[in-house]
Amino acid sequence: MITSVKEILTKAQEEGYAVGAFNTTNMETTRAIIEAAQEMKSPVILQITEKTMDYAGGRMIFNIIKNMVECYAPEIPVGIHLDHGKNFDIVQRCVDIGFTSVMIDGSRKDFDDNVAITKKIVDYCHEKGVDVQGELGSVPYIGEMESGEVDWDKYMTVPEQAAEFVQRTGIDALAVAIGNAHGFVKERKEPDYERLAKICELVSVPLILHGASDWENGRVKEAVANGICCFNVDTATRVAFVNSIIKTVHKKEEIAFDIRKILGDAQDEVKKTVAQKMIDFCSSGKCSISSHPADFVAPINKLTAVDTAIDEE
Ligand code: G3H
Ligand code: 13P
Ligand code: ZN
Repeated sequence: MITSVKEILTKAQEEGYAVGAFNTTNMETTRAIIEAAQEMKSPVILQITEKTMDYAGGRMIFNIIKNMVECYAPEIPVGIHLDHGKNFDIVQRCVDIGFTSVMIDGSRKDFDDNVAITKKIVDYCHEKGVDVQGELGSVPYIGEMESGEVDWDKYMTVPEQAAEFVQRTGIDALAVAIGNAHGFVKERKEPDYERLAKICELVSVPLILHGASDWENGRVKEAVANGICCFNVDTATRVAFVNSIIKTVHKKEEIAFDIRKILGDAQDEVKKTVAQKMIDFCSSGKCSISSHPADFVAPINKLTAVDTAIDEE
């Protein structure tokens, strides 16, 4: 069932595990994530970026997720979230579509400008019952990092500032920088767990760690022990998807033009990747469901009732 992201995060925070927030771009990735969640009995967040909304249509991808949850995982708590929203317009577009959670990423701005844009989004969203994630410090992408030795102090969240940021903005969740980076890139040798623990001590909202595709089990456990309750994952699933396509097309020439086989194999690989992350994050088994997924496949006539409005874009 579509559930508020705040509810999913709060439960994880209270019970000492983390959920995965997985980026989706298309039907196959969405289905892979939802099926993994169903099979692992794991709550999950699906997140969409502005680029994906431009690619797939915001309302379309939203409805794909909603329909799939109704069909394949009706008892699993699933959140739908805007990832890395950059301005008011994109947030407003998501709120209009029906998202119940957005991120406003003002992390590249100076502190006061980040507070100002984040607070503006919080005021707008809370009025409409939508949760907001902010970011302080910055989790770099490869293009933003100098080659050679990286000065991680430039990027990392300052705990006292985090407390002020949360207090002044009223956000519901905070993305932190502790030496993590987006993509498969070299991160800080050891994440700054002490800094994380300090942030956790000063801030009561759920803490989110972006760039978790390459976080192996030891780091994950340490991060959860020090207050992380959600890991963002994108690169790992993209790599699984694309590698599978390359392999299928090259290895099995006889099916090279069967799109269903090519994308079906890719979907399976994404599903395996997501399921493993759910085990690593300890979110697997955190929801009780009454019986087998097949029992929940919605009758066709139920689907016709689903809102299938097409985006204006
Ligand atoms: O950090 C978020 C995503 O990995 C960036 O994805 O290419 O959809 O903007 P995007
Ligand atoms: P990765 O691509 O490194 O997993 O990061 C995902 C992310 O942070 C999405 O917001
Ligand atoms: Zn991110």
